[in-house]
Amino acid sequence: MARVFSGMKPTGDATLGSLLGALRNWVADQGPEAVYCVVDLHALTVPQDPDELRRQTLELATLVLAVGIDPSVSTLFVQSHVPEHTSLAWLMECTAAYGELSRMTQFKDKAAGQESARGFVSGGLFTYPALMAADILLYDTQEVPVGDDQRQHVELTRDLAERFNSRHGATFTVPTAVVRAAGARVMDLQDPTRKMSKSEESPGGTIGVLEDLASVRRKITRAVTDSEAEVRFDPVAKPGVSNLLSILGACTDRTPEGAAAGYSQYGPLKRDTAEAVAAVLEPIQARYRDLAADPGEVQRILSVGAQRAGTVAAATLARAQRAIGLVPGPR
Ligand code: TYM
Repeated sequence: MARVFSGMKPTGDATLGSLLGALRNWVADQGPEAVYCVVDLHALTVPQDPDELRRQTLELATLVLAVGIDPSVSTLFVQSHVPEHTSLAWLMECTAAYGELSRMTQFKDKAAGQESARGFVSGGLFTYPALMAADILLYDTQEVPVGDDQRQHVELTRDLAERFNSRHGATFTVPTAVVRAAGARVMDLQDPTRKMSKSEESPGGTIGVLEDLASVRRKITRAVTDSEAEVRFDPVAKPGVSNLLSILGACTDRTPEGAAAGYSQYGPLKRDTAEAVAAVLEPIQARYRDLAADPGEVQRILSVGAQRAGTVAAATLARAQRAIGLVPGPR
């Protein structure tokens, strides 16, 4: 079984995009070699309210369990509980080139967005892919299940691992991004040319995993389509309809093309998509409510996870520090 690592930021509510693009695949890859992380340090790249950050970190951890991660099988922990992540991140920042980090499309997009919204672009937003590389490399990861938007960061991680290995000798396993076709790019329901992202940016276009199901159905029924009346998967010419087909396909284990069969009108397509999404969300929401009733248990699971993760991370960090020429410390 491949060694798997993936992470998710506790910012805003988890969306249908993060569920279909990532969390469901985390469950599919579950096993003793799978390590999953709520990456709270990554959330700090943009200003956060401390109480909200704490709440959202525990909420996301609870949601990961509700989706089906079994902590007696896989490892689940919070990034800041394992300080090796920030220690290795510095070695990665010094391995990455300035030009390489400048080319990250997510940095360019987010920096532009932050600049216009609040006039503040943090240094962390720029160096964040080095922290993400550290996250992945600490666990000798072979496969990284992610949505399409994270592919470039995993490519950079590969480049950094190879560069470090060639400069300092074999130290890191070189990982591969695993982007499954179904649900890899769930788009905004109101603007299907952009990725479904935070609810505050596009309330009508974003579906939260924990959102009230009546509201979920309403949003899908009101999704933007086009003025033709033909149901066909064509993301360029028909982004809205194609997004609905991708969502319907991902929720019913079919390709978007397969999901299109039998529809000639948008009304029935929207209705069935709304029902398919509700059927996926309903049991997750029920499990979430049960787990959220016992927050102490979630915290216990996270501390066991941090201990397990920390043991592996400490060994990899020590190997990298030795290879780069740092003198071993007293511990
Ligand atoms: P984040 O927190 O923005 O997203 C978490 C995961 O959800 C996927 N995703 C989507 N997939 C399909 N359609 C969408 N609309 C959609 N929105 C989000 C993302 O591709 C991702 O897989 N930098 C990462 C977190 C991270 C990480 C890591 C991931 C930190 N360290 C190490 C993997 C390995 C991020 O910001 O993802």
